[in-house]
Order: sequence, then structure tokens, then C-alpha cells
Amino acid sequence: MGEKVLVTGGTGYIGSHTVVELQNAGFKAVIADNLSNSRIEVVDSIAKITGRKPEFEKVDLSSAEECKQLFEKHPGIGSIIHFAAYKSVGESVDKPLEYYHNNINSLINILNNMHRLGIRHMVFSSSCTVYGQPDQLPVTEETPRKPAQSPYGNTKAICEDIIRDFCKAQADYSCIALRYFNPIGAHPSALIGELPLGVPNNLVPFITQTAAGIRKELSIFGDDYNTPDGTAIRDYINVVDLSKAHVVAIKRLIDNKQKNNYEYFNIGTGTGLSVMELVQTFIKVTGVKLPYKIAPRRPGDIEKIWADTSLSNKELGWKAEKSTEETLLSAWNWEKHFRGI
Ligand code: WQD
Repeated sequence: MGEKVLVTGGTGYIGSHTVVELQNAGFKAVIADNLSNSRIEVVDSIAKITGRKPEFEKVDLSSAEECKQLFEKHPGIGSIIHFAAYKSVGESVDKPLEYYHNNINSLINILNNMHRLGIRHMVFSSSCTVYGQPDQLPVTEETPRKPAQSPYGNTKAICEDIIRDFCKAQADYSCIALRYFNPIGAHPSALIGELPLGVPNNLVPFITQTAAGIRKELSIFGDDYNTPDGTAIRDYINVVDLSKAHVVAIKRLIDNKQKNNYEYFNIGTGTGLSVMELVQTFIKVTGVKLPYKIAPRRPGDIEKIWADTSLSNKELGWKAEKSTEETLLSAWNWEKHFRGI
């Protein structure tokens, strides 16, 4: 049985898929989650997929005391993958203090316990949102970050800086930040997937809920962008491909292959897709007549972004493998399974 990895936010969308891939790679996973944006049933779903039930602790990581107790209760943690954070762009605009408190204090508490206990490896869940609207595309890791468009995005940039400075001060600790582009899709088993509570902010869950008849119609936010079909462009990355990148990153740290003790990588497909192209692909692969309309632009949205993934391909030896078609079908299968359709 391999190294014990603490996965914070491990019952969440990307966290749960990463626990599956960690277990498939022979690691032991301990999940810490406050269940504010996920359900405890995900633990059993993971066990159904892998045949092994991860340990689980309900914990508020923004509490220094609760975070300390977590590590007391689970000795032998060798490395950490830190997902736990509030992640809604829109909500962060309405509740900035909650976002700064939760996302930043959770990270600082994790780093303090890493340092206290000599846990030397962490992979951090970051986001392409740190680039804002890049001046040049595709965006590389050396593209300068831009002022965040939201408090959520700002917490990601601040957390990257905290990790960078921690690693500068502690040369024998190593961290990797993975800058996700747009994660979509679900595990092929359809037993885990994206489960937004309330009205989905993100495109694909809104599409699958509309296809399931839960939402009346999809609003496409703007068709007057400077793009081929006028709708905004993103780099949609399959969630299983994305989860595998975390296993590769943890192995890189454990095997001491990192070039320096703070690295960051773009995790995307390297291809941009417009909202309309994604909608038409969903309709094509599922045969569902998806009702949609063109609506005004959503404030805060950027026009277009997609990744240059050559660094993660070369240094991590990782590449996105699944097609958009397969990914959208997996999202639809998950929606149908979850709704019992
Ligand atoms: C994608 C495109 C929308 C909904 C954000 C965060 C990122 C990450 C993912 C957390 C945009 C359009 C959407 C809808 C639409 N955060 N859209 N109708 O905004 O690129 O990224 O979520 O995990 O850090 O910044 O993702 O899925 O919300 O939007 O037309 O009902 O789909 O305008 O062009 P986004 P998204």
C-alpha cells in the first residue's frame, strides 16, 4: 500500500476524481472536507469504483484547531493535495470576506501543519483565472498573471504567492501548483461527477441539467465577442485527465524530480472551444434537443483563453487524452445516473 496522501476537498468534483486515480495508482487517500459543497455519499461512490473506501474526516480547515486535530488523528500523511476552497466566481463577488477567510486561512493552516510535522510535498489546485484575459494566446506558464476578475480568482493568486514564499523560506519543502483550465465531464462509471448545489454557474452542468429538463433553457452569455462565431472560447479539460495530472505531480515530488521547490503548470488540452461549438457537440453526441438562447454577456467573463501545455507535457509527461465528445457524453451519463433518468 503506497504513501498516505491527504486530499482536502476530496468529496468535491475534482477532488473525488483525484482520490479515485490516487487509489488506482496504489496510494492510500485520507479525505478532509467540510461538505459545504459536496455530499458524504461520494465516499461510498469512490469505494464502489475502486473497491477501497478512503478514510474521511469532516473538518473546517479554516480553523487552526480543527486542522491541527486532523493531522493528530491521521498520523503518517506523506503528502497533500489541497483542493478545499470555495469556488464560485459570482458568489465570491457577493461574499468576499468569506472567500478570503476560508480559502486563505485553510491554506495557511495546511502549510503550518506541514511545517510542524515535516510533510514536505503539496500539490495545490490553482486556476487559469490567474491569467485574466491574456494578451497572447495560447497562454504559457510565463505569461504574466493579471489582476483577478473576482475575489475567488484573487484567492487563487494570493495562495500561489503564499506557497511560493513558503517554499522560498523552506528549501526542503516542495510544492506544485496546477493551473486548471475548464474542468468538465465525469468518471466513465457515472458514479461520481459535478454536483453543483443550486443553480449551476458553470456551462456544462447547466447544459446537462437543461437536457434533463431541470432548467428551462440554456442562456449563451454573449455572441458578440471577437471570436469566429462570436461566443467566448475556453479550454475544456476532461476531469479524469485533470485528476491524473495530480497523481503525476505527487509522484514528481515524492521521486524528487522537480526542477525547483515551487513549480506551476498549465493543465488544459491546448485547444480552445467556443460555447456554441461545445453546445453543438453536446447536441451531436447525445441527440438531445437542447433549448438555448443568446443572452447578454456575463459581467466578469473574459473573451478567450486556452493553454499552451508544452511544459506539463514535457516536464510532467502528462497530456490530456479524452476527446470533447467522450467528455460531454460522460457528463450527460452522470446527469442521467444522478437523476435516475
Ligand atoms: C464558461 C463559458 C460563460 C454558463 C470559471 C472560473 C474558473 C473555474 C471554472 C472553478 C463562459 C459561458 C456559462 C452559462 C454560458 N472555477 N456560459 N452560459 O467562467 O470560464 O471559469 O469556472 O472551478 O476558475 O473562472 O467557466 O463554465 O462558468 O463559463 O454561456 O449558463 O460558458 O460565459 O464563456 P469560466 P464557466
